[in-house]
Order: sequence, then C-alpha cells, then structure tokens
Amino acid sequence: MQMNYQTILSKLKCFKVVFILLILIVPYKIQAQNNDWKVPEEAQKIENTLEKSDRVLNGGKQIFGQLCSVCHGKAGAGDGITAAALNPKPADLTSVAFQEQSDGTIYYKIREGRPPMPGFKTQLSEQQTWAIVHFIRSLKKEETKNK
Ligand code: HEC
Repeated sequence: MQMNYQTILSKLKCFKVVFILLILIVPYKIQAQNNDWKVPEEAQKIENTLEKSDRVLNGGKQIFGQLCSVCHGKAGAGDGITAAALNPKPADLTSVAFQEQSDGTIYYKIREGRPPMPGFKTQLSEQQTWAIVHFIRSLKKEETKNK
C-alpha cells in the first residue's frame, strides 16, 4: 500500500515536471520554427551606395572575421565554433535562399539582429555594415553567381 502510494505520488511529480516542461518548450519550439524574419518593406528597398572595391571587400572581410565568424564561420557557411550551441542555427550565408534577399534586407538584419544574434547598429558604422554586405555577397556559391 505504502509502495503504491509512493509510486502514484512520484508519477504525479513526473507528470508535473513533464507538464511544466511542455509549457516552457512548446512556445519556444513554435518560435524556433517560425523562421520568417520580417523586415520592413522600406528597409528591404534600401540600396548599397558604398562602391565595391578591393579595399571595401577586405575591410568587410576583416570585420566579419572579427565579429561574425565565431558564429557564422570564416566563409559564412554557418559553421563557426559556437554554432552548435545556438538555436536557431546561423544561416548558411552562401546559400541561394539567403543570397536571394535584397541588400537592404541583409543590412537591416545585421543592424537589428535577432536572438541569439546581437544587433550591430551601435558597434558598426553604416559604411562598415555596407562593406560587410559587399563581403557577404562575395561568399555566394559559384554555381549561383551568374543567376
Ligand atoms: C552570437 C552568434 C552570432 C554573431 C556574433 C553574429 N551572428 Fe548573424 N546570426 C546568428 C544567428 C543564430 C542567426 C539566425 C537568427 C534567426 O534566424 O533568428 C543569424 C542571422 C544572420 C543573418 C540573417 C540570415 C538569414 O537567414 O537571413 C545575417 C545577414 C547575419 N546573421 C549576419 C551577421 C553578421 C554580418 C555578423 C557580424 C557583424 C553576425 N551575423 C554576427 C548568430 C550570430
């Protein structure tokens, strides 16, 4: 009898734990699946007015190496040293799906960030951010370059 009572009690505790976990995890999962990162239409249309040059590309590459590659990987493939621990994972910036987005969209995402990615608008000037956009464009996979 005593055993039974305790078994029931521990089962109830188990349910409680499962229940609490569900309450915590479900909204988190729903959010993680919602990959739709809405960027205001106005922001999508902003054009990169910084002229592309070797100097600009190198500058963008350097900043990317310092601030972004820990998560995004040196070549932007989403394989930085911290990537495994992140949820959602950093996107593959060389992919067609990513590269189809406008310059303005990419610029906006870098400036605003979305957890776990920090926003960089206080850390980077507009010009530095545009230089990174140029660099990210240069990461495009070969077979999609002519598209
Ligand atoms: C702490 C890790 C981390 C750092 C540092 C970081 N990012 Fe991210 N980044 C992420 C994650 C995670 C996502 C995916 C966020 C999401 O989808 O909600 C992301 C998303 C992005 C996106 C949008 C990808 C898409 O699918 O449209 C861009 C662009 C981007 N990062 C660029 C950068 C740049 C440029 C830097 C450096 C200035 C940087 N990130 C620094 C983790 C990071």
